Amino acid sequence: MRVAVIGVGHVGLVTAACLARWGHQVIGMDDDPDKIATLRSGGVPFHEPGLAELVNEGRSQGRLRFTDDVDDALADVAVAFVCVGTPSLPGGAPNLSFVERVGQAAANHATGDLVLVEKSTVPANTGVRLTQVIVREQARNGSSVSIDVASNPEFLREGQAVHDTLHPDRVVVGTDSERAAAALRDVYAPLLERHDCPYLRTDLVTAELIKHASNAFLATRISFINAIARICDQVGADVAVVAEGMGHDHRIGAHFLRAGLGYGGSCFPKDVDAFIHLSRSLGYDFRLLEEVRRVNDAMREHILEILRAELWHLEGKTVTLLGAAFKPGTDDLRNAPALWLAERLLAEGSHVRVYDPVALVHLKTCLPDVECVDDPLAACRDAHAAVVCTEWDQVTALRGQQLAAALAYPIVIDGRNVFDPETMRAAGVHYHAIGRPATKATLRRP
Ligand code: UDX
Repeated sequence: MRVAVIGVGHVGLVTAACLARWGHQVIGMDDDPDKIATLRSGGVPFHEPGLAELVNEGRSQGRLRFTDDVDDALADVAVAFVCVGTPSLPGGAPNLSFVERVGQAAANHATGDLVLVEKSTVPANTGVRLTQVIVREQARNGSSVSIDVASNPEFLREGQAVHDTLHPDRVVVGTDSERAAAALRDVYAPLLERHDCPYLRTDLVTAELIKHASNAFLATRISFINAIARICDQVGADVAVVAEGMGHDHRIGAHFLRAGLGYGGSCFPKDVDAFIHLSRSLGYDFRLLEEVRRVNDAMREHILEILRAELWHLEGKTVTLLGAAFKPGTDDLRNAPALWLAERLLAEGSHVRVYDPVALVHLKTCLPDVECVDDPLAACRDAHAAVVCTEWDQVTALRGQQLAAALAYPIVIDGRNVFDPETMRAAGVHYHAIGRPATKATLRRP
């Protein structure tokens, strides 16, 4: 099928490359000429394992091309995926103006019947508004092409985006149009021939809500285990063992129960804010989700509290952050805990050093006052404390003796619980983790 992907960022470019892998004729469109130039020259504008190979496979087979022209993108395609950004506005609502612009462009430039598919995460009822925009634009321009809207949310994780798209747990399609449903069935037929997974067909608003509810629930799991970790700190229990004990229950499962600095990234923080905002606008006060957000924010403050307790004054001290990206496998700094910590430490007069294997080039742009170091031990040299922010392999490979020898003060705050407490302390490190005791402690009296 001839398919357009509007917006070739983390979601759109992966979607476009995978659609080409499935044999479709794909055109990727973006209004950022630099991004299009990079793609046309064989580059990929961000770090995502396996993506460059897949993009270049599609391009060399003549199945994937890029344009910055919306007419070019929407000319005689049957399906157009909307993969534009929906960044948070002040107050938490998502900025859906880029989605609206795609609806207007489709109404004014589609040359034939089109299925317009929401792939970006959008709040419930966005599809209704998108349809309204299209109807109004077509009433104005007299266009008679049929444009049906559908929701087909992405469930990809950065760092594993190609894998997650080629091997989804499920495909969700929400639409009230049988034509759109049939078109999307054809889009996914090559995938379903290769990969067995549930294909869930529902209505538009239900599909939109599946996406928001999924991300909100994953964020809830993280804040839940982080709240348990705070209790573990008080009673001397080990949150990693608590999580393991919980995870053996098949109704709970072992995934997404890693305590630490909490969630960052371009999705969970934005989607939790958007869901809270949407719920409030619908007259439901989603306090559970507000508490998920509060717990997550508190994990970052908790690290600062430990640093203040250890260092007395943060002013004039050198603090090393091991890892900057919001998680390993990506160079994405959006809502990264390390960024938040760096900003707060700089504001309190600390000298901040950061190590990261792939994200430093972006860090220099957004935090020029930070000292970027491309070796983890060199970044610790003569620092007064080190904080593990991202569990890169290069960080988890560090040994207690190396850290104690490099640091001016042997203080390590393990924000991702990657080291063994006993080994660290045996190496002379003042070691702090999240919900993990140094040694087996008895229940402390309150
Ligand atoms: C997430 C969802 O997983 C994905 O399905 C959705 O499509 C987009 O949002 P992503 O944000 O890329 O994907 O990364 P993910 O692996 O989910 O991690 C999100 C954040 O949670 C990271 O900061 C990670 O460090 C943190 N996390 C994850 C934890 O703190 N503990 C965990 O157990 C798991």
